[in-house]
Amino acid sequence: MTLVNETTAAPIRLRDYRRPPWSVDTVELDVDLGIDTAEVTARLVLRRDAEQSQPLRLDGEGLELLAISLDGRALDANSYRHEDSVLEVDGAKDGSVLETRVRLKPAANTALEGLYLSGSRETGFLLTQCEAEGFRHITFFPDRPDVLARYTVTLRADRERFPVLLAGGNPNGAGELEHGRHWARFIDPHPKPSYLFALVAGRLKNIRRDYITADGRNVALVMWSEANVIDRCHYALDALERCMRWDEKAYGRNYDLDVFHVVATHDFNMGAMENKGLNIFNAKYLLADPDSSTDEEYRAVEAVVAHEYFHNWTGNRVTCRDWFQLSLKEGLTVFREQQFSADMNSPSLKRIEDVSLLRRAQFPEDAGPLAHPVRPAEYREINNFYTATVYEKGAELVRMLAGSLGPDGFRRGMDLYFERHDGQAATIEDFLSALGDANSVDLMPYLSWYGQAGTPRLHAHGEYDAARKEYTLTLSQHTRATPNQPEKTPLPIPVKLSLFDHSGNVLPLHTDGQTPETEKVVVVSKASQPIVFRHIDAPPVPSLLRGFSAPVLLEYGYAPAELALLLTHDPDGFNRWEAGQHLAFLAFDSLHAPTDNDACGAWCDALASLFHGRAIDDALLADLMTPPGEIEFADRQTEVDPAKIHAHRQELQRRLAAHIGIETLHARYHALNVGGDLKLDAGNQAKRQLKRRVLELLALVDADGAHALAAKQYESATGMTDRLAALGVLVRQRAPQAAKALAHFRERYADNPLALDKWFTVQAQVPGDAALASIRTLEIDPAFTLKNPNRARALFGTFASGNPSGFHRTDGEGYRLLTDRLAQLDALNPQIAARLATAFNGWQRLESVRREAARTALVALAQRGGLSRNLSEIIGNVLQ
Ligand code: ARG
Ligand code: ZN
Repeated sequence: MTLVNETTAAPIRLRDYRRPPWSVDTVELDVDLGIDTAEVTARLVLRRDAEQSQPLRLDGEGLELLAISLDGRALDANSYRHEDSVLEVDGAKDGSVLETRVRLKPAANTALEGLYLSGSRETGFLLTQCEAEGFRHITFFPDRPDVLARYTVTLRADRERFPVLLAGGNPNGAGELEHGRHWARFIDPHPKPSYLFALVAGRLKNIRRDYITADGRNVALVMWSEANVIDRCHYALDALERCMRWDEKAYGRNYDLDVFHVVATHDFNMGAMENKGLNIFNAKYLLADPDSSTDEEYRAVEAVVAHEYFHNWTGNRVTCRDWFQLSLKEGLTVFREQQFSADMNSPSLKRIEDVSLLRRAQFPEDAGPLAHPVRPAEYREINNFYTATVYEKGAELVRMLAGSLGPDGFRRGMDLYFERHDGQAATIEDFLSALGDANSVDLMPYLSWYGQAGTPRLHAHGEYDAARKEYTLTLSQHTRATPNQPEKTPLPIPVKLSLFDHSGNVLPLHTDGQTPETEKVVVVSKASQPIVFRHIDAPPVPSLLRGFSAPVLLEYGYAPAELALLLTHDPDGFNRWEAGQHLAFLAFDSLHAPTDNDACGAWCDALASLFHGRAIDDALLADLMTPPGEIEFADRQTEVDPAKIHAHRQELQRRLAAHIGIETLHARYHALNVGGDLKLDAGNQAKRQLKRRVLELLALVDADGAHALAAKQYESATGMTDRLAALGVLVRQRAPQAAKALAHFRERYADNPLALDKWFTVQAQVPGDAALASIRTLEIDPAFTLKNPNRARALFGTFASGNPSGFHRTDGEGYRLLTDRLAQLDALNPQIAARLATAFNGWQRLESVRREAARTALVALAQRGGLSRNLSEIIGNVLQ
């Protein structure tokens, strides 16, 4: 049965890739801007591929064609055909000049792709979003990343309504026009693909700073936003300077234009966009101030600013040949940002954050109906492939490559990659070849990681031979079938490992003919592989996949005491956390089987001793004391009951809290609650994080006491971190003090959309059956709108993807509510609708009552018909 839109065109396939028959050398764009209509004149100098003979075909969506000429002569209606999304033109030759003029409707563009209006008609501004295929909503063009052209852009608009006119590249003149209008021109000397084009026009303020690159270029760094939030851009500007310096040092990469503009908007489909010389950011990832941003959000701003900046080399100077290669720029850029953030902050905390994100977002993707390789083989709607697999798993693949080359080797490889491919549209193979050639190694075996979906399972088994004093570790791998990929091949899996004795001392590793080290990387590339360690005096405790050396699921039959040993003795913070997470899984399982509850005891004992010991950093301690999330627990089950998982995970934490003791928790809370002026340094951030954890634990064993503390903390908080932490405890626990705090928050932040988003988010997190009523009330709140992506995500994204026990109701009301809203949202903004729909990803593994309810809701949505390509692809895949 085909449920979804039978008329959907065939998918686009990697194996069908052909070089572009026509490319463009230079583009002159003339844009006449207005809120309701804009006119775009494009003058393209065409280049024909000598080996191909197809007619000239250009992409164009929703464009009203006003005029068209070729080599200076207006074309009559017989010499071109304009159907839906294609413009075919007769008579073009190599070197021909095609000129088109089209009309657009920015204010009517609710999909936020192409040219659109951010904010109100009266005070808002115009901007563009082109990645992946938005440029075709602006003008007719071969809108594919392997067409690199030089852009000259001239903007014209009313001076009073649009005082600021920006486009990518270097400024090249500006001036007055008649009737109160003005113009500005920008020339980008670097050939670029159309997805990196951008313009911005409106009433904006800026802050700026001069920057001199390591190779001596003077650059003006300019951040733009609407006037009322410009004071909140300073942190991002500092972060920008930090990451520019870092890229010069770490990769020898300098910025390459005279200006670098960054613009904040509240209306954006994703996090941010690396348009050449004119980055555009979701305000959520650019604005930061203590009163409305949490510590976590400060880190996110720094990370996203860095990510977009790093794209200038990994993405812009070297771009992607086609969208299948998306991870070439995204995986690599995420990895570079991870390195930068690790350098700026704490490496182990950063690794913990990234690995938990991978497990929360990517592992479920790899295990369900939406599984796809890091380099997908086919897609219908490319916007559906900006996924955790392409980004986060892609970054893990780069990390494995970097790990196998070592820091110097990786740098050599990256240098060669830039040297070979600067100014080109490259492939994953190009990347592996450059890294390999620079180091005289063959990295092509890693290509299978890019083509194979699914998370490999790494099984480990140890045998100790007391007579020979030998320990044999057998490592084997298996990857389960994924949609359209029943057969899997073994992959090269780098396993970094150490061995510990039972007192927690790390052992020297004697393997064949090498000088002993305490840590070693074994690359498992066969289905099964033994490795023998000699001179081992007693059965050791292996610490495997250290630093999470490969994105796999580890299966090793640890005894609780062994994990407790690693949790308390491993010198590396990340590995301690890993042991603790593993132990928490065992503890969780032991809740159901009360005869064997020593895993829970071991987990509580180990954490209590770390809590009392005070030898580790507060932030790390807070992470250690946080069990895996509900989604991670669900990922290990086949008949998922989210309500039960929530209850058991709470019980696990309650036992930890009880084990530590109410008084001790109170005492630590007060010790951490230092008061005074807000400080943003790492130590104070860590204190706030641990304080929050202590408060949450306390709430499980002394609800009244914790609620009183939370209410007080809410009132006296000097920054958003403490304020939101307190509000979260009150709201999620449905404390009597919650209503007052919520009302206060609502009023206090009425004019701050990013803070108000949190007001929606926190209420969408109420666990269990109470969530639905809360969502129904919130969605009729005057401040709620489906039109704003951040607001829609704050409410429905949180409910459907971040609150499993609230969303997965046995009566199916959660599913019905979401599918109804998806249909409405799809008519406005297909990208956001499709993204929210991925909440259904794991539905086949729900227990039967919920599973049937989910199926019914999904089928009903599919049968409505008229869904966008974005949403129908996701629903179709989820139902398959
Ligand atoms: N390239 C941007 C970034 O990761 C994201 C663009 C996402 N585009 C989309 N259509 N989903 O930095
Ligand atoms: Zn990116």
